[in-house]
Amino acid sequence: MRDTDYESAFEQTARALAGARCVAALTGAGISAESGVPTFRDAQTGLWEKFDPLQLATPRAFAEHPKLVWDWYTWRRELVAGVKPNPAHYALAEIERAVPECMVITQNVDGLHRRAGSRKLIELHGNIARVKCSREGTVVERWDSAGDEVPRCAACGALLRPDVVWFEEMLAPEAIDAAESMARRCDLMLVIGTSGEVYPAAALPSLAKACGALVVEINLSATTLSASADYCLRGPAGTILPALVNDAWPDASSIVATPRGRRSPPRPA
Ligand code: OAD
Repeated sequence: MRDTDYESAFEQTARALAGARCVAALTGAGISAESGVPTFRDAQTGLWEKFDPLQLATPRAFAEHPKLVWDWYTWRRELVAGVKPNPAHYALAEIERAVPECMVITQNVDGLHRRAGSRKLIELHGNIARVKCSREGTVVERWDSAGDEVPRCAACGALLRPDVVWFEEMLAPEAIDAAESMARRCDLMLVIGTSGEVYPAAALPSLAKACGALVVEINLSATTLSASADYCLRGPAGTILPALVNDAWPDASSIVATPRGRRSPPRPA
């Protein structure tokens, strides 16, 4: 990491953004925290503080306790359906409109990037709104969740499951291939609200850096990815990302939470 203060790191990042041809944004649960979606690993509030991932997010957990797993995902599906994208999601959609090429690579399954307007999007870990057949993988549009049992596939009778990637499962090859291709091609990678604990997503920033990109981390706190980032902007993504967009394109119509045309970055609380 370069030895720079917040203001200087912010200015360098805004300048890189304004001049970028190809931007990749790797996002994690932290970008949705300000929408009210709990993260996984934050002390006190993270989901994995209260729940055991091995009991809820593995194929074995589903095989042994399908109803428990189904109900947990139903709870999370309802939770994300009731929240809205925040200024960080909107800022990334704005960046997509402003630069020649941009891709959001998200580990989140909450669908908030799409709802904010991002169209160039790779959902590495799936999408919680979708359900698929646990045997054939066919995505199912409708299911009856009225009974006490996990609903079954109308075609083959197997249990339905959320269309998300569980621990010990492979990511869709086309998704990780596209993400790695972006990491190799981008000239700026923003790494936003992820602890960098889960692979292969966590390997993308070092791949981008090895291929010549500037890597900037935006996070409330230091992570395992911080040391290899060029700049680290500490603070809430919902404040920092809109401020970066404003600074990079002061004349653009903007969704941002800070005054238009602001030249000096807000210092996060
Ligand atoms: P984590 O919960 O591991 O990390 C969330 C990160 O967001 C932490 O580093 C926080 O400091 C940061 N953060 C929290 N609020 C923030 C804010 N307002 N602005 C900026 N940063 C903030 O979540 P992920 O890294 O996304 O996988 O977790 C990766 C994967 O682990 C998830 O996709 C999920 C989980 O187990 C599977 O379920 C397969």
